[in-house]
Amino acid sequence: MKVVGGSASIALARGIARELSVGFVDVAFEKHPGGFPDSERYVRVLGRVSGEHVVLVQTTHPDPMIVELFLLADAVRDAGAMRLTAVVPYFGYGRQDKRFLDGEPVSAKTIAKHLAVDCDELLTMAIHNPRMLKTFPLPARDVSGMPAIGRYLKSAKVDMLLAPDGNAIRFAKEASAIAGVPFDSLEKKRIDSYTVKITPKALAVRGKSVAIVDDVISTGGTIAVAVKELRAQGARQVIAACVHGVFVGPAEANLKACDDVIATDTILSPYTKVSVAPEFAAAIRALG
Ligand code: R5P
Repeated sequence: MKVVGGSASIALARGIARELSVGFVDVAFEKHPGGFPDSERYVRVLGRVSGEHVVLVQTTHPDPMIVELFLLADAVRDAGAMRLTAVVPYFGYGRQDKRFLDGEPVSAKTIAKHLAVDCDELLTMAIHNPRMLKTFPLPARDVSGMPAIGRYLKSAKVDMLLAPDGNAIRFAKEASAIAGVPFDSLEKKRIDSYTVKITPKALAVRGKSVAIVDDVISTGGTIAVAVKELRAQGARQVIAACVHGVFVGPAEANLKACDDVIATDTILSPYTKVSVAPEFAAAIRALG
């Protein structure tokens, strides 16, 4: 087995190779210093992959990383890889999981269709709608990132976890079992992409260190209202923890209210403090 990493996920790919004790194959991402003037992507697989089971790790965010993933998958196949497993830590376009209006594509499926051209199977993490993986044209599995978050929060010695909405309850539940602390939840209503409202609810948080656990932090709007509620109810310390730190628009300002923010390495950011390499390595070992 060999591991190849796209430029969005090199550190994670190296981590997965280390966990599995298999070789890591370097990739060149520039033909000339500075890259192509029109900013098209370039990839060149620098090691031998012929006859190997190749694990190709690449997050599909931002958009140029999708092109890079397809180029790498094609290059690895052309170079004679026997089996190709795509590890897409953050599956960009996952939220367009159905046709909301006539004339739209089901974008998540569009990406999957193109992946299936060269890849034999797909592993991803905390995809927006795991049920849709069954509709993909290649075998696909969602891997949980919550063990990594749970381990971090255990060492941070938080007193309890909070799911900021109904969707996050399953994440908070899983992380709380690993961190060994209880969890509670809020109810959230999304008004628009930037605005959410929560239903007032009494929480037993006075004097406590609380970690808000979610799959994604995007604009940080969800975290901002949850932090406000926790502070109003007397929480001593508030940490925001997520698998995917997308951090767009007003995220920086919204997250200022937190004592700490942690995200995994599915998307690299200054808040990346946890690696999900052990979780993906375990899923790869289980592939059979
Ligand atoms: C929603 O279901 C997700 O779990 C997150 O709560 C949401 O994507 C976070 O978005 P934002 O940071 O923009 O509030």
